[in-house]
Amino acid sequence: MAESRTNLSPISDVLIELRRDSRMPLHQQIEAAIRTGIQCGRFRLGMPLPPTRAIAASLGVSRGVVVEAYQQLVAEGYLTSQAGGYTRIAIDGQPEQPSAVVPPASTPTIDFGYGRADVAHFPRAAWLRSARRVLTETPNERFGYLNGRGVPELHQALADYLNRVRGTAASPDTMVICNGYAQGIALLIQVLARSGGTVLAVEDPSANDDARPLAEAAGLDTVGVPVDEHGIRVDALERTDADAVILTPSHQWPTGAVLSAESRAAVLRWASRRRALVIEDDYDAEYRYDRAPISAIQGLAPDRVVYAGTASKTLAPGLRLGWLVVPRHLVEAVTAAKKAADRGSPVIDQLAFADFLARGEFDRHLRRMRPAYRRRRDALLAALRDRLPDLVPAGVAAGLHLVAWLPPDLDEAAVVDAAARRGVGVYGVTPYRMSAPGPAGLIFGYATLTEATIIEGISILANAVSEVRGH
Ligand SMILES: Cc1ncc(COP(=O)(O)O)c(C=O)c1O
Repeated sequence: MAESRTNLSPISDVLIELRRDSRMPLHQQIEAAIRTGIQCGRFRLGMPLPPTRAIAASLGVSRGVVVEAYQQLVAEGYLTSQAGGYTRIAIDGQPEQPSAVVPPASTPTIDFGYGRADVAHFPRAAWLRSARRVLTETPNERFGYLNGRGVPELHQALADYLNRVRGTAASPDTMVICNGYAQGIALLIQVLARSGGTVLAVEDPSANDDARPLAEAAGLDTVGVPVDEHGIRVDALERTDADAVILTPSHQWPTGAVLSAESRAAVLRWASRRRALVIEDDYDAEYRYDRAPISAIQGLAPDRVVYAGTASKTLAPGLRLGWLVVPRHLVEAVTAAKKAADRGSPVIDQLAFADFLARGEFDRHLRRMRPAYRRRRDALLAALRDRLPDLVPAGVAAGLHLVAWLPPDLDEAAVVDAAARRGVGVYGVTPYRMSAPGPAGLIFGYATLTEATIIEGISILANAVSEVRGH
């Protein structure tokens, strides 16, 4: 109890509503309000109540009324008062809450969970410098409501960065800052549905658990288009009547395939013919290890392609910072959807990120992280080669995860289960397939694990695979 008391600073006011027309005396109304507040957890154990004089003044009653209420509650054990000190809440009336933390029984000890940046390397010092600069130097008017698209400083800094590094044709006035890709895709789906679209194509397999429920809620049908080692099969896309397609062309999720130059051109021809929209999810392009850079397709057709980027893989998902570069004819509709959703993303984070980009801190951070992730990827590839040589890694040249295809004798779910029983989290490709059949495989995220842990994890996985094979 001592600990909870020291953590709480005195409060200056509490909400108590008095009904002057009630037959209940005023002191009893005050007692009832505090009692109920304690019972429902609004007033916590150790919380100091305002002095009787202050509360009497704010309620417009005599101090004696409040003193009487406090004394009654002290007598009942709800409050405690010490001479010269604050009157505090003496009991914990909050109903027992079920623990929000799931018991760790099934939490893997070594988790190859995919898609996670190593937030332990978040550039705190540089971000703090940017945040401090913003708070010191930004004029007051920037802290008001904006136009929904975000702050101009970030539009400019991101356009400069994306055009330089990703080969986009981004113009600051066509950018919409949003709360991660998750919100970006939600806004685009709304706009698509409102403009009369009825069918959304997604890659199969893909992280369709993002888009599919949103599309369904907006009344759109979702159609899966198979992916092979060159990315989405454009011949299959051409057979759909999709109004838009979501692509991960630079590093297909999860297979890691790169959309070939011919397929890029073919997708854009299809989009132009059908007047369809291409949504380019460029989620992890910053991490490229041993292949030539592949530019964003948005740069080839800025009037047909929405470019969607995120800070989730480069900095931290908790920032909830994402951005859309939108074809000019859609800017107004996407901005209106964003405005209706939340009136715009938080300004201070946007300004801090703009400063962080403009000062080259983002480039510096990526330069630091690339070799670290590359070492982890190399450790994973070497361990797979040593311990599980009949698994076939793919999509290894970029990103924060890779896929290893399983030989036909291995059942994906059985391997995932056997690994989980030994405390290793690996994840199957099959749950991400919609209808197109394809090989079984495992997805390995490696960005948050040390090289030693990766080696240990693969060694345990190899034992799990032996168990599945029955030796
Ligand atoms: C394919 C794909 N796109 C985008 C994202 C980023 O989503 P967000 O920006 O909402 O964190 C992820 C995150 O895991 C992803 O896997």
